[in-house]
Amino acid sequence: MAQNSQSDKKFRLLDDRGELISELPVFAGALGFEVVDVRHLLDKAGYCTFDPSFGSTASCRSTITYIDGDKGILLHRGYPIDQLAEKSTYLEVAFLLLFGDLPNANELAQFGKDITYHTMVHEQLTRFYAGFPREAHPMAILSAVVSALSAFYPDSTDIFDPEQRLLSIHRLIAKMPTIAAMAYKNSVGQPFVYPQNHLDYSSNFLNMMFAVPAETYKVNPVFAKAINALLIVQADHEQNASTSTVRTVGSTRANPFASISAGIAALWGPLHGGANEAVLAMLEQIGDKKNISEFIKRAKDKNDSFRLMGFGHRVYKSYDPRARVMQKICDEVLHEVGADNDPLLALARELERIALADDYFVERKLYPNVDFYSGIVQRAIGIPVKMFTALFAIARTAGWLAQWKEMIEDPDQRIARPRQLYCGESPRDYVALEERKSLTDTAAKVHRPMPSEPAIVGH
Ligand code: CMC
Repeated sequence: MAQNSQSDKKFRLLDDRGELISELPVFAGALGFEVVDVRHLLDKAGYCTFDPSFGSTASCRSTITYIDGDKGILLHRGYPIDQLAEKSTYLEVAFLLLFGDLPNANELAQFGKDITYHTMVHEQLTRFYAGFPREAHPMAILSAVVSALSAFYPDSTDIFDPEQRLLSIHRLIAKMPTIAAMAYKNSVGQPFVYPQNHLDYSSNFLNMMFAVPAETYKVNPVFAKAINALLIVQADHEQNASTSTVRTVGSTRANPFASISAGIAALWGPLHGGANEAVLAMLEQIGDKKNISEFIKRAKDKNDSFRLMGFGHRVYKSYDPRARVMQKICDEVLHEVGADNDPLLALARELERIALADDYFVERKLYPNVDFYSGIVQRAIGIPVKMFTALFAIARTAGWLAQWKEMIEDPDQRIARPRQLYCGESPRDYVALEERKSLTDTAAKVHRPMPSEPAIVGH
């Protein structure tokens, strides 16, 4: 893989008597921090590393996306996110993520054709929707239907055949907007709108969402531009929770439809892609500028589960560059719909101003993330709140697939299989049924809380 080198530096891991436990190689990436190679620590030295939420663990090599969280930089294949969002189309970015560079005119035309010719779904698949309740969450439908695609396309599930991989990639990028828009149409009892190949990717999505057979629907170009930017800023974000899920599931050699379906499920959570839905609910709950201080107080209270949704990030410790792009798009869309003075946007801006001046948020480097403004944009376009995360999933499909493809093509990658720090019972003899105490008697023991910090050896 390009631009990755083992540096001359080595880490010497010593025990408390100064005895050498292991000498660990160090890798220097093309950009960013150096990485200590602990792959052979267990077999060579009998020690594991402990990093439950992977905060200090690089799980793979990658050449797709680079984030500098301290400086608020996000690059795809070296290109800054703001330039991509302003100048390119989502399909150009998808090509960039998948193949390493921006397409030339011929490549783009061919890629566009490959995608548009796969936008329809098998007619039999449309019957799945009748089985879902009208109020079903679109993410539940998306995850189920994407998984079901493997039943319809067994000709593209051989992950070791590059042509089949590419065919699955085209199918997934092409069909995601169709499947998501169908979920919406099903929820409102309107007929499905078939994809239109003369429309660009974003306009086609808007058409499938809002057109009805009874009248002509004209896609608003400002909305299409906003959706295009939204798709681009959400297209990839290196090894986040859903992407790591896709890589983990894919590492078992499951087919790509199953892997992407798992990614959709992971994205759904409110700490991840579900945050955009939660931001809007939070702003509506706050309701008025006069209530902001009360909610800020709650967000800071450790005994209250309330968090400021759309704030904070595992990697960004400064302003999320995607949020900056979204702020600008937000202004354009609200201006287009004649809502320059939208009270929800005013509330969001005031909330941001107050939080960014508050010591709690300053000390923890909590800034607005991509989801803080994206919900306001989508709401102004008329996209229902329940569809926000589905739109995120459409966007992230390109990133998931690029990362999945990279993983399959990486000779170093094996099945993902972390180890654990076992904190349970020591070996004990089996207890006969009549001798067992009830769980309630032993509740204190059985439900013994997990130690928040593992015991430190030698202390
Ligand atoms: N509101 C209040 N306090 C917060 C928040 C928040 N939104 N985010 C983090 N903190 C506090 C947290 O309580 C902790 O405080 P302390 O050190 O006193 O215990 C400190 O900041 C560090 O937080 P953490 O939970 O250890 O950080 P993390 O890296 O595990 O979590 C996060 C990152 C995004 C899950 C978290 O910031 C959060 O829950 N944010 C709200 C949900 C959200 O907006 N998610 C969308 C992320 S961007 C879209 C995407 O890519 O998925």
